[in-house]
Amino acid sequence: MANKNKTYNDDQTESRLVGGVAVDDDQQIELSLRPQLLREYIGQKKVKDNLGIFIKAARARGEALDHALLNGPPGLGKTTLAAIIAREMDAKIKTTAGPVIEKAGDLAALLTNLEEGDVLFIDEIHRLHPAIEEILYPAMEDFELDLVIGQGPSARSVKLDLPRFTLVGATTRPGLITAPLRGRFGINFHLDFYPVEDLQIIVERSASILNVEIDNGGARAIAARSRGTPRVANRLLRRVRDYAEVEYDGRVTTEVATDALNRMEVDRYGLDEVDRKLLTTIIEKFNGGPVGIGTISAAISEEKDAIEEIYEPYLIQIGFLNRTPRGRVVMPAAYQHLGLNPPEQRNSPQTGLFQ
Ligand SMILES: Nc1ncnc2c1ncn2[C@@H]1O[C@H](COP(=O)(O)OP(=O)(O)O)[C@@H](O)[C@H]1O
Ligand SMILES: [Mg+2]
Repeated sequence: MANKNKTYNDDQTESRLVGGVAVDDDQQIELSLRPQLLREYIGQKKVKDNLGIFIKAARARGEALDHALLNGPPGLGKTTLAAIIAREMDAKIKTTAGPVIEKAGDLAALLTNLEEGDVLFIDEIHRLHPAIEEILYPAMEDFELDLVIGQGPSARSVKLDLPRFTLVGATTRPGLITAPLRGRFGINFHLDFYPVEDLQIIVERSASILNVEIDNGGARAIAARSRGTPRVANRLLRRVRDYAEVEYDGRVTTEVATDALNRMEVDRYGLDEVDRKLLTTIIEKFNGGPVGIGTISAAISEEKDAIEEIYEPYLIQIGFLNRTPRGRVVMPAAYQHLGLNPPEQRNSPQTGLFQ
C-alpha cells in the first residue's frame, strides 16, 4: 500500500505543461507553494466562506467534519483544500487515490488505521472499483466496516466499528460519481476556473515564497496565460523565472514574462500545442464538428480521458469549444483566435458540393 501510494503522482496529468522538463524539483517547489490555512487560500470565495462555517461549527461541537466531495478540473486546488481541511480541524490526513486501491483489503486497512477525527483523502474517487466503493457506504454512513472473512461455505461476515472520520473525496469527473456515493457526502463543492485577478495574487504570493522579483505587469502577464489554473500559474512562473535569470537580470517584468511565454508557445489564452492541435484538427479534418470524442482522440493521439479532463473544460469555459449531443463543435471565437475562417466563409461553392 505504502509503495503504491508513493508511485501515485498527483501532477502526472499535467506534466505536458512543463514541456518535458524534469519535474522532480518542480514537485518539491509546488509543495512549498501550497497554502496551509483557509485564509491563505486565494479566491473561490463561496467555497471558502461555506467551508469556514462548516469547520467552525464542527469544531464547536467537537465533532469530525461531515464528508466532503471536491470537484473541478485538475490544478484548481482540490488536494490543497483537503490538506487545509485537516489542518483547520487539527486532524491528521491520510492520502490515497481511487486507482491505487486495488483490493477490498487495501481500503479496509486504511479505514481500520484511522483515528478519531482523521481525514481520509481519496483523490480521483470516481476511479474507485465498484466493489470497493460499496465498502465505503457503511463506513461513511454508520462508521462501520463490513468484512467478509474466509471463502465459500465457511465465509462469515463481521462488523467492525470505525472511528468517526472525515472522508474527503476529489474528482475531476463529478458525472462519474455514482448516486449512492454522492449521496453520502454532506458537503459538495465545485471549484471554478480562477479569474485573472485571483491568479495574479497567486503568482505574486508564489513569487514572494520563491524570492522572485516580479512587478505587477509580469504577474499579470503570467496570470492571463494560466488557463484559469493555479497549478499552471505556478509552473509558468517557475519557467519564466528561468528565462529571467538566464537571459535578463532576474526581474520578471511584463516584457520578460511575455517574451518567455511566447518562446514557450503559450499563447494569449494560455493555450499550448495540444489545445491548438485539438481545435485545428476538428476544424481541418472534421469541418469544425460535430465530431465524437473517440474520433478526436484517435486523430490527435491523446487519451480520451485527458481530453475530457484537462483540455476540454478550459476550451469550453473560454467559449472555444462546445459539447453537443452529436459531438464537439469548434466555436467562432476559436477560429478568430487561430486566424482561420469560420465555416460559413469556408463553405465556398466548391466545398459546398460535398455537403
Ligand atoms: N486557492 C489557491 N490559492 C493559492 N494557491 C493555490 C490555490 N489553489 C491551488 N493552488 C496552488 O496550485 C497548486 C495545485 O493545486 P492542487 O491542490 O494540487 O490542485 P488539484 O488537487 O485540484 O489538482 C498547489 O500546489 C497550490 O500551490
Ligand atoms: Mg490533486
